[in-house]
Amino acid sequence: MTERNDPHTSCRSADVVVLGAGPAGLVLGVLLHAAGIDCLILERASRARVQTRARAGFLAPNTVRILDRYGLAGGLHRDGRRHGACEFRTQDGRFRLDYGTLGQGGRHHVYPQQNLVTDLLTHYLDIGGRIRFHTDALAVHDADSARPSVTTREPDGRSIRWNARYVAGCDGRHGAARRSLRPGTARYHHHDHGVTWLGLLAETPPSLDAVGYAVHGRGFAGHMARTADVTRYYLQWQRGAPADAWPEQRLWDELDLRMRAADHGPLQRGRLLERGVFDLTCDVVEPLRHGSLLLAGDAASLLAPAAAKGANLAVLEAEILAEALADALLRGDTAGLDAYSDRCLAHIWRAQEFTGWMTRLLHAPPEGSPGAGAGPHFQAGLQRSRLNSLRTSRIHQDWFAENYVGV
Ligand code: APR
Repeated sequence: MTERNDPHTSCRSADVVVLGAGPAGLVLGVLLHAAGIDCLILERASRARVQTRARAGFLAPNTVRILDRYGLAGGLHRDGRRHGACEFRTQDGRFRLDYGTLGQGGRHHVYPQQNLVTDLLTHYLDIGGRIRFHTDALAVHDADSARPSVTTREPDGRSIRWNARYVAGCDGRHGAARRSLRPGTARYHHHDHGVTWLGLLAETPPSLDAVGYAVHGRGFAGHMARTADVTRYYLQWQRGAPADAWPEQRLWDELDLRMRAADHGPLQRGRLLERGVFDLTCDVVEPLRHGSLLLAGDAASLLAPAAAKGANLAVLEAEILAEALADALLRGDTAGLDAYSDRCLAHIWRAQEFTGWMTRLLHAPPEGSPGAGAGPHFQAGLQRSRLNSLRTSRIHQDWFAENYVGV
């Protein structure tokens, strides 16, 4: 794998400086470059790291439409798999929702995010896009002027200032874009769902032909396909407990128990390639535009993973932003930029709402948490009723399907 930083360091400017080479930054970079806009991506990590970071994998129909429109979907059509079913396993038995035939009939493409990122990066470099790896953005300056800039720490330790007309903050929740917002100009809405997951990546084929959601007295367990040989599993986890608290054997035994393998068939075991613990938290920044600085992807809003919306929102926002920037830079029309924040926030709040609903569907709030209300039995009763409504009501199923594949 070659790694070559952009050689034009002396230029030190671009019409759009994009922070971060995740799905948001790369889609934005490709679309801007294709529109003939001078753009530079600054990425803190190495190319190898960016291309191997295993994360999400479920791409919604609208995301695939966007990627298709710009010739970015070759890999996912070749190697991705269509997916249109979930299976819920509860104390009342199991039920399957073929969401691909419910609601508006949308299906996902399952394609690991690191493969998508690799495709986007390869395409961006092939069309001559400029990117610098190992380049840590430190701060965005003068965002309320027409000449913003970004300071970086370069691989050799030097600090450089990059001038721009616009800066796109696609550098995630802890990136420089969020840090650079002037105090008092943004509202942060942060919410903790009160639940922690242990995410496992296992070297084993999927054991179900559906996304598996198991609701159990011992906590949630999930099964999500990735590729023919790799499957993601989740276990609701004690907050604060380390990822390596249990040996592999015990994790598989627990997955069997919560997924009720004795009743519904065994899970194929395999080597665990990765494990990580994360709290299900979410946030939204309002507004997303701060003069010449615009936020997209996780920098704009972080979503809990229960409904796999994060990467899909990132791609949608990147497309909306690319069109708005092209209008502003090529045609002097800033209406798209003026509307950018409100347009994206409508999608973001919708996705947050559904993700919150999914999170409550899959977990009763832990005892003692503010959401636990009248106590665990009451909450478990509500959760069971929610699941039964989804099991029996066609209207509820159509609503679920429409939201599950939509952004
Ligand atoms: N300077 C430069 N790059 C940075 C900095 C910084 N200070 N901070 C972070 N980055 C880079 C990260 O290394 C990463 O490559 O920004 C990139 C952000 O990429 P993602 O985290 O993938 O975020 P985004 O493009 O917004 O994608 C969002 O994908 O898997 C999902 O959960 C993820 O929902 C999220 C979605």
